[in-house]
Amino acid sequence: MNDTVRNLIVKLNEEHSLTIEEYETILMQRDAEAAEFLADLAVKCRKKYYGNKVFVRGLIEISNICKNNCLYCGIRRGNHACDRYRLSEEDILECCDDGWNLGFRTFVLQGGEDAYFSDEVVCSLIRKIKEKYPECAITLSLGERSRESYQRLYNAGAERYLLRHETADEQHYRKLHPAEMSWSNRMKCLRELKEIGYQVGCGFMVESPWQTTRELAKEMKFIEEFQPDMCGIGPFIPHNATEFAKEPAGSVELTCYLLSIIRLIHPTVLLPSTTALGTIDPLGREKGIKSGANVVMPNLSPVRVRNKYELYDNKICTGDESAQCRSCLSRRMESIGYEIVTDRGDRVRE
Ligand code: 5AD
Ligand code: FES
Repeated sequence: MNDTVRNLIVKLNEEHSLTIEEYETILMQRDAEAAEFLADLAVKCRKKYYGNKVFVRGLIEISNICKNNCLYCGIRRGNHACDRYRLSEEDILECCDDGWNLGFRTFVLQGGEDAYFSDEVVCSLIRKIKEKYPECAITLSLGERSRESYQRLYNAGAERYLLRHETADEQHYRKLHPAEMSWSNRMKCLRELKEIGYQVGCGFMVESPWQTTRELAKEMKFIEEFQPDMCGIGPFIPHNATEFAKEPAGSVELTCYLLSIIRLIHPTVLLPSTTALGTIDPLGREKGIKSGANVVMPNLSPVRVRNKYELYDNKICTGDESAQCRSCLSRRMESIGYEIVTDRGDRVRE
């Protein structure tokens, strides 16, 4: 690590901000020593707010039916080999029961943009979950909807919303999505979610096709400016039935480096160590936590659909053994000196 990089990392730790050019410098000149230095500061920073606690979210994949055709995604509507499913209200409530008994206090309802999940259907679902488990937090991850729709879901009791922006660069967004999808609409959704009062999560893939270091530097600037409550990042992983099938997967080391930077930009952000990290590297999720992440999101979906929500190839935790995700993750986190807690896991406010 040269002095320039060291000084910039120190500055980031103190000021929580760098210029795009400075972010570019610490990314371009990344080496093992810089990664260690950065991770060390990031871990100190997260310990200050979250101690050695890791929050869990129970991920329920409610439908893999999607009207969109994102070029990188395995459940894109153009993938006719995808075996489609949709969970019933009963199925979903059952997942919540299991989750509650396992100590989950946050449920993430995630799905493709499936028209079946109208405001009426989702509001009814939210109310039923809240009625049964008033102390839980409900997070939605159901894609782009209208402001009115977001408002209705919020009024019904959803408090958090995850919508990855995928890339902070409009030109790059165009290369990853069909013409009918728009970056500006996605950004508009994020702004509206925030205005309504949701705790909002954005995020992007690391080393998606055509992403450059410059783009990653812009991602860092975007996080700095948008100040999301949560930020989901994970390596891009090719899916065999997409046109990116032959592209290389993103790097675990770079993802971890970015996690550390994000922690220093936004000390209290809720930062998941994603399943994609665990897919590329068996110790990926541990590495993410050791780089400054503080959330894990094990799968709570019914076992029969787990291998169908396949955004990318070789996703982990899709077999029968996945009923034990919670205890598996507890063990994994304990092995590196962290503890999974039974808690809603709200963001600490400075
Ligand atoms: N590799 C990694 N992440 C992906 N996602 C979708 N497809 C892939 C892929 N091939 C991510 C997107 C999406 C989230 C639910 O999963 O960022 O927002
Ligand atoms: Fe799913 Fe380990 S987290 S089996």
